[in-house]
Amino acid sequence: MVKTIEWTDEGVRMIDQRKLPMVEEYPVFKNYRDIAGAIRSMVVRGAPAIGVAAAMGVALGVRDSKAGNMSELREEFNEITETLASTRPTAVNLFWAIERMKRLFKEIASDASDKRVIADRLIHEALAIQAEDIEGNKRIGRFGQELLPNSGTILTHCNAGALATAGYGTALGVIRAAIENGKQLHVLAGETRPFLQGARLTAWELWKDDIDVRVISDNMAGSFMRQGLIDAVIVGADRIAANGDVANKIGTYSLAVLAKQHEIPFYVAAPLSTLDLRIPDGSSIPIEQRDPAEVTHIGGVRVVPDGVPVFNPAFDVTPNSFVTAIITDRGVAVPPYIENLRRLNHF
Ligand code: MRU
Repeated sequence: MVKTIEWTDEGVRMIDQRKLPMVEEYPVFKNYRDIAGAIRSMVVRGAPAIGVAAAMGVALGVRDSKAGNMSELREEFNEITETLASTRPTAVNLFWAIERMKRLFKEIASDASDKRVIADRLIHEALAIQAEDIEGNKRIGRFGQELLPNSGTILTHCNAGALATAGYGTALGVIRAAIENGKQLHVLAGETRPFLQGARLTAWELWKDDIDVRVISDNMAGSFMRQGLIDAVIVGADRIAANGDVANKIGTYSLAVLAKQHEIPFYVAAPLSTLDLRIPDGSSIPIEQRDPAEVTHIGGVRVVPDGVPVFNPAFDVTPNSFVTAIITDRGVAVPPYIENLRRLNHF
């Protein structure tokens, strides 16, 4: 399995997802500011993966802090967590992981504390978040694979695989588990303009695992559904509101509408760390607006006339009525989500 993120004594090693599939490079990010930069520029991306990267960034920042006493360390800790939290606004896993690190810091940092002991505990916590993510994805896979047909074609969007998590993947984890269980599945990966996570990343990671994958451009999905060529759609999520509205990569909503029209099941796979019960519905999920150059250029080549403005929202919200089921690491939620997600969360 590809090593998306790895803690090393020199810093955090991450596969550079901007360069895949042409170049497979694993740079090491040696301080928390560089990790924040890597999250912002999408060296590392995908909701659970940026949560793990941020947790490791917090641990690294404290380990390498030059603070002379606890009051200085507390101040620096706030600076570290604020810097990492300001990188990307939509995926709630980022804030969830930083909050978990903050809770631990608060619990263990007293005036008599030894900085090295605090740093070790924080490193341990970041590694626990990473390990738990992989275990959670395997459970998502086990629960979700039962929903997929014994044979057929599954459409996915963006990359919700090993590259977007600590390993195994959420949506792609379900597909992996189904195949491990003997199901004969083919995967269609929508290319996912503008960053091309489907064409570049999903295709790369499935192809490396010998899973049958073909790429289609985003505008082909409707026609394929109409021809009966798609049996289910499965995607990941960046934030799920209390009522089951789902924020995910831009284009997810269009697929959900098409799936409903063609009576094709539309599944969302995500750990409960993606659930944000403080947000009642999708209308208050913050949507990241990214650099227009991601739309005006492909691979560094301009494809939109110079001077023509573009839009570049990175995510959209799919209303819960389009979602057949939400597959979590504690089981599968079906409508009414407002009750069933809450129940799973307290289970
Ligand atoms: O902008 P990205 O590539 O970080 O967006 C990623 C997605 O939208 C994924 O579908 C989502 O984070 C789930 S990853 C398991």
